[in-house]
This record gives sequence, structure tokens and C-alpha cells, in this order.
Amino acid sequence: MLNPIKVLTVGHSKETIESLQQVLRKQTNVKSAARLLNGHVDPLQGIRELPDVLLLQVGQNWENELAALNVRPPSLRPTILAMGPSNDPNLLRRAMKMGVRDFLTVPIDEAEVITALKQIQEEKRSAQNPVPQRITAVLNAKGGSGATLLASNLSTFMAEKLKLRVALVDLDLQLGASALCLNLSPKTGIGDALSAADEVDSAALRGYMTHHGSGLDVLANVPHTVIEPTTVTPNQVDHLLTVVAQNYDHVVVDLPRSIDSLTLQVLARADRIVLVLQQHLSHLHDAKRLLNALRGHLDDVDNRVTVAINRYEGKGNIGIREIQGALGLKFHALIPNDYKRVCKAEDQGTPLYQYAPSAAITKSLSNLARNLAGVQPVKGGLLRRLFSSQQTTQ
Ligand SMILES: Nc1ncnc2c1ncn2[C@@H]1O[C@H](COP(=O)(O)OP(=O)(O)O)[C@@H](O)[C@H]1O
Ligand SMILES: [Mg+2]
Repeated sequence: MLNPIKVLTVGHSKETIESLQQVLRKQTNVKSAARLLNGHVDPLQGIRELPDVLLLQVGQNWENELAALNVRPPSLRPTILAMGPSNDPNLLRRAMKMGVRDFLTVPIDEAEVITALKQIQEEKRSAQNPVPQRITAVLNAKGGSGATLLASNLSTFMAEKLKLRVALVDLDLQLGASALCLNLSPKTGIGDALSAADEVDSAALRGYMTHHGSGLDVLANVPHTVIEPTTVTPNQVDHLLTVVAQNYDHVVVDLPRSIDSLTLQVLARADRIVLVLQQHLSHLHDAKRLLNALRGHLDDVDNRVTVAINRYEGKGNIGIREIQGALGLKFHALIPNDYKRVCKAEDQGTPLYQYAPSAAITKSLSNLARNLAGVQPVKGGLLRRLFSSQQTTQ
């Protein structure tokens, strides 16, 4: 049983407040109180015990009402759901800027209020019971480096072999290939999930997922559709990622090769960023540019990036030391070149651990998957010494 959420409804219209009170009182998990904002501007003036949520009907004097709330330090401010007219862009902008959680337009849709409250309650509950959430973002330094191959193989391995609840999110909204790589054809997918991101809860999320035989759930684009990334906001990506992370042990995100507000949103939250490149000067050059850009935008990049040198060959053009020196990073993984097996496995839509369980490429991918999931690598063996000993130990 969840603790009830304390909601204080404040406004200028007795009628609106009363009708909201009636709706809220019918909710089992809501403890509702109300006050009429009569004469004073601070909606929380004189309130001793702060509610979890302030449901605020803003009035003509909205600027002062919001300003009064804004002077409180964030820790002394409840989550605010504002209600008001939709035709005042200044009001909307101001409300969003000061961190108002949601803006509900009048006349109030009561179902919308209940949905917003349920979501807040769910978040409150997860904050109280933190679960180890691990998000791995996979990004390539150059197109065709192998990010999608890695993302699909790492995630299926974690699901089937490590028995984790894993979601693979394909955020390459235009040309995502991870579903195809796994022989899946999503009927509904990430486009719909992003459009509904504000309301998606655990139950709705399941509907957007496509299940793979390994146990993995895939959130990808439906075939032959292209989502225009400018129609998606970083907030939608963030909300969706939050719900996915709450529902799975591990989330792997396959990213497009782009540094924009959407990919940065994911990279900011990722516990680990797997940067995939091959042993070519052009790859190294782009990896360096990419890393420098990330360092400029995000915190703690160097401790979160694992460089995956894909299609690795001992006699390759550029050695590991050179790559590490140029990028200034400590963690790396080596994924050997195995064109024949990779092509066959991809054409069949089969993960490598099924298609070629004892191949060197499979072992190195498995060890990287274990490493990312925080599971000890398999002990012993020449392959382990060759590949996994050089992988990140975090
Ligand atoms: N380790 C590897 N050995 C051989 N071929 C590989 C390997 N990794 C990737 N490839 C080949 O490169 C292609 C592009 O990989 P992909 O994962 O789609 O790259 P990205 O997502 O970075 O654009 C794959 O379809 C596969 O044919
Ligand atoms: Mg890709």
C-alpha cells in the first residue's frame, strides 16, 4: 500500500476548488485539502505542513503568485501543478521556467489531474525505494562502426544469459536498425511512446515494447517510418527513459550519431557510454571531436565512457595505446573483427551468442555485457586474458 499523496488545491474560484475536491476525495491514495486564495498572493502563506503537490489555479495576479512560490528554496516547494488559461504564452513560459511540473488548462479535465497525480505518486515511490538503475548508451564515432551490432548483442545477452530484465531503446528515430538486427518488426513503437511520454506508466509501456525470444523488450520504431527528431522534445525523452529505467534492471540505448538535445539528454543520464570506433584515423579523429563536444556539455564524461574498439585486429592500423593516448581515456573493450559470422548472424536476426557461442567475438561481447551489468567476467581462458582484462572494471 502506498502512502497517500497530500494534495493542496488553491485557487480563486470556489466552484472549481469544490469540484476538484470532490474528485480527489474519491481517490483512495490522495489526502486532499483546499483553500481559497482570497486577498493574499502567496498560495502557501501560513501553511505549516507542506503538501506533496500544490494544485494551483492561477488568477489575474499570476505573476506575483508564481513569484511568491519561486522565492522558496526548491526543497521547500511542493510539486506544482498549475491550472489556468491556455492563451497566455507569458504565463506558460514563466510557469515552466520556475519548474511547474505541468500546466493544465481550464476548463479542467479531471482525468488529466488524476493522471498527473498518479505519475507523481509513482515517482515518489521510486525515489523512496531506489532500485539500482543502469543505463548504457551506445554511440558510434563514425557511421557503420558497429554501435547497433553492439547494442543488440549486449542487450540480448544480458536478458537471456544474465537473467536481467532488459530493455533496448532504439533512439535512432530516422534509420534505427536494432529491431531488424533482431528479426523483429514492431507493430507499435517509440514514436507513439514518445508522443504519449507524459502519461506513460508501467502498464502503458508494455504496450509499446516488442518482445524478443531472449527475454529482451525492444522499444524501436515501426518499420518504414521515419520520425522527425525535431518533433520530439528532450523532456519527452527524459520522461520515457525514467519510466523504462523504473521497469527494467538495465536499459541499453542505441543512439544515432548526433550530438543534439535528445542524445545529450540520454548521455547525461547514462551510467556508461560505450563509444564505438574502429582502428582508422578518420574514426579516431571523429571520436576525439565527439568526446571533446561531450566533455563540453556533460559531467564526468571520462569516467563514464568505455571506448569499444570494434573489428579489432592486433595488426590494425592504429594500436590500443595510440587510441587511448589520443582520446585520454582509461576504459576500453576490444571486439574482434569477424565479418563472416557477423553478417550471417545479422542476416538471420540471431544474436551472436546463439549463432556462434564459442567465437572470439561472442566472448568479448559477453564479457563487455557482464561488465556493463556489474557481473563478474568469466574466469580463465586465453580469450579472457586477451579481451576482458582490458575492459573497464567499473
Ligand atoms: N566486429 C565486427 N566484425 C565484422 N563486421 C562487423 C563488426 N561489427 C560490425 N560489423 C559490420 O558493420 C556493419 C555496421 O554495423 P552497425 O552496428 O550497423 O553500425 P552503426 O550502428 O555504428 O552504424 C554491420 O552490419 C556489420 O556488417
Ligand atoms: Mg546504428
